[in-house]
Amino acid sequence: MIKLAPSILSANFANLEEDIKQVEQAGAEYLHIDVMDGAFVPSISFGAPVMKCIRPISKLVFDVHLMVEEPIRYIDDFVNAGADIITVHAEACKHLNRTISRIKEAGVKAGVSLNPSTSLSVLDYCLEDIDMVLIMSVNPGFGGQKFLPLAIDKIKTLKELIRVKNLNVDIQVDGGINTDNVSEIIEAGGNVIVAGTAVFGGDIIKNVKNFNEIFSK
Ligand code: DX5
Ligand code: ZN
Repeated sequence: MIKLAPSILSANFANLEEDIKQVEQAGAEYLHIDVMDGAFVPSISFGAPVMKCIRPISKLVFDVHLMVEEPIRYIDDFVNAGADIITVHAEACKHLNRTISRIKEAGVKAGVSLNPSTSLSVLDYCLEDIDMVLIMSVNPGFGGQKFLPLAIDKIKTLKELIRVKNLNVDIQVDGGINTDNVSEIIEAGGNVIVAGTAVFGGDIIKNVKNFNEIFSK
């Protein structure tokens, strides 16, 4: 099952409620929530208080992508604000094992994200403990960047790793994804597809339906 995770980073923040209702109504399953601290990545986006405000208006799976240094400091905040999945960057954690444990102890799903230049080898000792790997297909920090083709091989290798170890781990892919390149990503093994610009740019309902049509093929 392929799932669409629209990234609200590209939504209209003055009209967030309406934009979220549209992606939900159109049939998206996840809501991708990009949290940026201005340190791990250049930009600052928003934090747990904003997420807490939108939690009551949506039944979507709240998929929180923490692009922050030492995210272990904020896990409780995002759990209390209604996160269903919390993904941290391997590069941002001094103690990745401890960070994953804290997320799981808090009762939510745990994901680990890898920047484009980070090797899959960082997963050697944690793949068994997590629910999702997020393969970045752009350098994190901004929406609207171009998809980096190196992600395709990485997804394929990861898919094989998960198969060999007989695990049930989702492969999320994030950055520069649109209806023209998504099929290649799915063929490689991606099953949770993040899209910001390609969903919130233009007709939101039509954009979500276009993705879902490709997913059902
Ligand atoms: C990038 C974010 C992405 C971004 C995706 O740092 O993690 O989730 O919002 O936006 P698009 O789909 O426009 O590349
Ligand atoms: Zn993201």
